[in-house]
Amino acid sequence: MKKSKRVKKSNSWRIKQHRDLFFKKSKTLGYRSRASFKLIELNEKFKFVKKNTNLLDLGAAPGGWSQVASKIIEKGKILSIDIKPMKPIKNVKILKCDIFDKNTKDEIFSFFQGNLDVIISDMAADTTGNKSLDSIRTNQLCAEVLNLSLKILKPKGVFVSKLFMGDDFLEVKKLAKSIFTDVSFFKPQSSRSESKETYLHCKIFKSL
Ligand SMILES: C[S@@+](CC[C@H](N)C(=O)[O-])C[C@H]1O[C@@H](n2cnc3c(N)ncnc32)[C@H](O)[C@@H]1O
Repeated sequence: MKKSKRVKKSNSWRIKQHRDLFFKKSKTLGYRSRASFKLIELNEKFKFVKKNTNLLDLGAAPGGWSQVASKIIEKGKILSIDIKPMKPIKNVKILKCDIFDKNTKDEIFSFFQGNLDVIISDMAADTTGNKSLDSIRTNQLCAEVLNLSLKILKPKGVFVSKLFMGDDFLEVKKLAKSIFTDVSFFKPQSSRSESKETYLHCKIFKSL
């Protein structure tokens, strides 16, 4: 076998093993998606989900992140939003709608009564098969929620979002830095190494 073919084969074996490991782990622990482990790792690093956190989960279906949050949050409120349907989770209010719909902002505001501590967003645009285009469309979602956070998040709140290290990565980073005092990035081990996915963690509005 030629060397390049051997390298490709061993890489795809490693990727499959990685996927299987987190897939099996999620089934054993009763999580709906492998994505759960990304939030667990993010929260171990930045510690933004606490017992009394009021949390908004965007792009929440099938519900892995909301499951993780509902295990930690005891006194706070959780609102999970997705265009797709999602099965119920204890102590989680689910809204099936587009986050950018006209009425969604008002629904969020009335649910939290202006007391929203954390926004987590794992939103991803539907894939087209063109990785570069997909990454731009998902980063656009992140940029739009960054702007929305100014209207719905508490001034000392936290915003965590999926982001791709694509062509427009620096633009979104610049936008985040223009809004928040503290901006950092973290790629969880449970995020596939061959994927350009990373996570943005921001806190405290600059206008404070
Ligand atoms: C990667 S999945 C999220 C996985 C989830 N974090 C979990 O742990 O199960 C991305 C989700 O973003 C949702 N999404 C994309 N655009 C959206 C929008 N404008 N409003 C609400 N949800 C959206 C998709 O429907 C999809 O379910």
